[in-house]
Amino acid sequence: MDQAGTLRAMTNSPNRTDGTYSSATRVFSITSGKGGVGKTAVVANTAFLLAKMGKRVLILDADLGLANIDVVFGLAPSHNLNHFFAGDCDLLSILVDGPMGIKILPAGSGVQRFTRLDSRQKMRLLEALDSMHNDFDFVLIDTEAGISENVTYFTTAAHEILVITTPEPTAITDAYALMKLLSNQYHEKHFNLIVNFIKNEEEALDVYRKLTMVANRYLDISIDYMGSIPRDKQMIDAIRKQQVMVQLYPESKTSAAFENLARNLMQEPQSLEAKGSIQFFWKRLLDFGNKG
Ligand SMILES: Nc1ncnc2c1ncn2[C@@H]1O[C@H](COP(=O)(O)OP(=O)(O)O)[C@@H](O)[C@H]1O
Ligand SMILES: [Mg+2]
Repeated sequence: MDQAGTLRAMTNSPNRTDGTYSSATRVFSITSGKGGVGKTAVVANTAFLLAKMGKRVLILDADLGLANIDVVFGLAPSHNLNHFFAGDCDLLSILVDGPMGIKILPAGSGVQRFTRLDSRQKMRLLEALDSMHNDFDFVLIDTEAGISENVTYFTTAAHEILVITTPEPTAITDAYALMKLLSNQYHEKHFNLIVNFIKNEEEALDVYRKLTMVANRYLDISIDYMGSIPRDKQMIDAIRKQQVMVQLYPESKTSAAFENLARNLMQEPQSLEAKGSIQFFWKRLLDFGNKG
């Protein structure tokens, strides 16, 4: 490890002597090329499981166009990030409680939506998040699909990027296009893949093989396999009941798949060093804020 690496590793370890966990927060962006592939479902279910394992979890709903996470958890927050970005309220006043002690910053879908945040809005978000960064072990950012400004903003600011696809050729192609853009224009070199709506594990591994084969050939990136989730009609059932799958059917095969995924997320990644500590995350937000 070089000097900077050692320093980063040191600042990444929780400071046990005074009981603070200043820089142990890990920020994941959950993203996809194509819509409707299960980003919100993955965020909600893994957040629930991480919280159940005693982790302090914050969900940032960055899909500013569609109300998502709040609906999945059956919440009806009166205020959301759109109000915050409009300058109507502060971040703490829109923070709502989900199940298992999960905290949520809801996006809401309103008349007023922000498809492109300006630098002042990014700066306000940065400052507000910074003041609460000691409070969480995991921050999961549920993004909108595609390659909009907001998606690249939130995604490049996170420590780790989770790309979700299905076995459908269009979803795979769009996932590839997203990674290509993030690699070529934002120098993101590491991705984690989740394959949703699978019939069997072989199908998921096949998707992973295809993507890595093309990526190895044409892009300078690495992709780790994070896991897969079966297609399961009980998922729709759960949505209807406004509960998450892992809460409603904890013994199911699908819930076992989510547990596997949550465990994989809890593993310390090799790539953490590359993106640094939580302070670095906020610093990056600031840099992007200045550019925006
Ligand atoms: N593994 C799955 N099996 C069955 N339905 C699923 C699965 N994953 C997601 N869904 C359903 O597909 C729809 C889209 O999922 P969602 O998480 O909202 O996608 P995204 O956030 O990527 O747009 C939702 O109705 C959700 O309940
Ligand atoms: Mg969604």
